[in-house]
Amino acid sequence: MHRLSAPFITVVSITGQCNLNCVYCYAHPLTGQHVPTSDVLRLVRELHDLGVFEIVLGGGEPFTHPEIFNILDGIFEFRERVSVLTNGTLLNEIACRRLAAYSSKRLHMRVQVSLDAIQGHINNAVRGCTDLTVNAIERLASTEVDLQIAAVVHKHNIAVAGQIIDEFYPRVKNFHFMNLMPSTKLRDNRRTADELCVDDIQLKNFFDALEEKVSGLPSDLHVSGCADYVREVDDVPRWSAPGCLAGITRCDIDADFNVLACSMAPEAILGNVRDRSFKSVWLSERARQLADMEAPLCSAAGRTAIAQCTDCHCSMNRGAR
Ligand SMILES: C[S@@+](CC[C@H](N)C(=O)[O-])C[C@H]1O[C@@H](n2cnc3c(N)ncnc32)[C@H](O)[C@@H]1O
Ligand code: SF4
Repeated sequence: MHRLSAPFITVVSITGQCNLNCVYCYAHPLTGQHVPTSDVLRLVRELHDLGVFEIVLGGGEPFTHPEIFNILDGIFEFRERVSVLTNGTLLNEIACRRLAAYSSKRLHMRVQVSLDAIQGHINNAVRGCTDLTVNAIERLASTEVDLQIAAVVHKHNIAVAGQIIDEFYPRVKNFHFMNLMPSTKLRDNRRTADELCVDDIQLKNFFDALEEKVSGLPSDLHVSGCADYVREVDDVPRWSAPGCLAGITRCDIDADFNVLACSMAPEAILGNVRDRSFKSVWLSERARQLADMEAPLCSAAGRTAIAQCTDCHCSMNRGAR
């Protein structure tokens, strides 16, 4: 199959540290180490020069990195757009002002803050520090930062996750609802997986209710979701979920510089970019082989062993490409 000369989106983990310990997190176990700023900038520069459209900084928690603003400053010297995924808990007033300053210079600073529920007892049970996260959202919502709230949908929040929109729209206009994916942490803890997993019907009902809510609201509200389960249930694709594109249009680079087709399949390593260029890894024979695999990589890595409902939403379309 023809291979893209570069991925469309790449998530670069800039740290192996986090101040939370979310029960489902795919980033665990973490290295505990921050990636040196010069290495992050070299890598992001190469991704930029290759034409990667969406470069996302993740982790761990990017704002535990002591040089996060040097990294952002450095990226904005050669690029006008970057995204950061964060739990928001370290975004005090000064940090929010610094993020807002990029946007006021007409740079595209996108910040995705993770929050599973506005109800503290629900969000705290799976993530933690809800008040700090909500404070950060409120601060950023009053700036020009391109803000998105992202929630993982599971048993604890499925009845109330949609209320996040009621709480923050129209101050926040972008929301993303993801279903729970088969992380190593969940695979290793079957009990937690069972406590969190929802089934296809529950997920379909959730997205149906969300669709109804969104249809009654103005068109400046953007809601995205991973809902291939809807297609599986009634064969009607109503949400944009193009199937598993791991290693085809996207990849993740972990804090050890491993290029992964998907964080859900940490064994599916395309190569390591500590001493090699990203381009040579992306265009390698190994990367081609992984991209051509018909089975979803997460299942190939033995991840179907956990509850079926935690299988990646994307996986079912892979063979149908
Ligand atoms: C690994 S975190 C890293 C960035 C930051 N620490 C945060 O929490 O946003 C990136 C995103 O992945 C989500 N996530 C983690 N584990 C997941 C899983 N098993 N299934 C679906 N999403 C998951 C988190 O909720 C978060 O939105
Ligand atoms: S989801 Fe983010 S905040 Fe939660 S443990 Fe993982 S890296 Fe940390």
